[in-house]
Amino acid sequence: MSGGVHDGRVAIVTGGASGIGRAAVDALVAGGARVVAVDLQVDGVSESDDIAVLAGDVTDPDTNAAAVAVAMERFGRLDAVAFNAGVPMSGDLLDLPIEQFDRCLEVNVRAVVIGLRAVVPALRAGGGGRITVTASTSGIAGDPNMWPYNTAKAAAINLVRGAALELARDAITVNAVCPGPTETGMTAGISALPERYEGLRRAVPLQRWGQAAEVAAAIDFLLSPAASFITGAVLPVDGGIGASTGQFTPHPLTT
Ligand SMILES: NC(=O)c1ccc[n+]([C@@H]2O[C@H](COP(=O)([O-])OP(=O)(O)OC[C@H]3O[C@@H](n4cnc5c(N)ncnc54)[C@H](O)[C@@H]3O)[C@@H](O)[C@H]2O)c1
Repeated sequence: MSGGVHDGRVAIVTGGASGIGRAAVDALVAGGARVVAVDLQVDGVSESDDIAVLAGDVTDPDTNAAAVAVAMERFGRLDAVAFNAGVPMSGDLLDLPIEQFDRCLEVNVRAVVIGLRAVVPALRAGGGGRITVTASTSGIAGDPNMWPYNTAKAAAINLVRGAALELARDAITVNAVCPGPTETGMTAGISALPERYEGLRRAVPLQRWGQAAEVAAAIDFLLSPAASFITGAVLPVDGGIGASTGQFTPHPLTT
């Protein structure tokens, strides 16, 4: 494709085989980018002229180094990175095995630090770049029983702010995208429970769940050349959840 916003650009998307990451790969490729899709399980994405698929765990420094190597060797440069892989976690504050909390932090936060260390030299070499981190509305405020995820995504958001300040001198922008309830593999369990699905739907001012492509559209924009003066931003893609104090949910004016 030519004339796309990403023409000639190369991106890495973690968690790129499923849900929001898969939709981000599609959006980037539609805009002319070539993309390295990294995921633990790569069934949902296929190799093509524009997509290189890398199976690996983002918590492993070797996976992050390999992603950069594939971008450079196969496509010759690196311009943009979506740190999107993540895992949910909930449980009783007093009972959840602490190793599970550790894993939540490892995937949602520590892996982003490892990833930043891997990709920044290649972005610098290209004269700058764009980075997004998929955080969550659950990193902005708390949810019942979801304290591990709330903690991890809040840390990811402030990591974005700190990294944005540190990397500004390299013309590398770093922004957080915060999805609300979005229909993906991660939320399939909730979607299968009509009462919970409906409860969340009614808590969203727009009165519906989001779709992966709607979150990917925000990632796609923040990774594009057009997002040149945006860094350290935290962008909710949540149907209006963040606009509400939560005192009157479900919303009396929209239900
Ligand atoms: N779906 C939602 O409602 C929602 C809401 C807020 C935030 N998010 C965040 O959006 C991001 C994408 O999630 P999704 O909803 O598309 O879910 P998803 O489960 O469809 O996709 C997540 C992908 O990340 C991969 N992944 C998980 N751990 C990994 C690891 N250690 N190494 C490599 N890949 C790994 C999974 O294999 C999966 O393909 C996550 O960071 C998630 O926390 C999702």
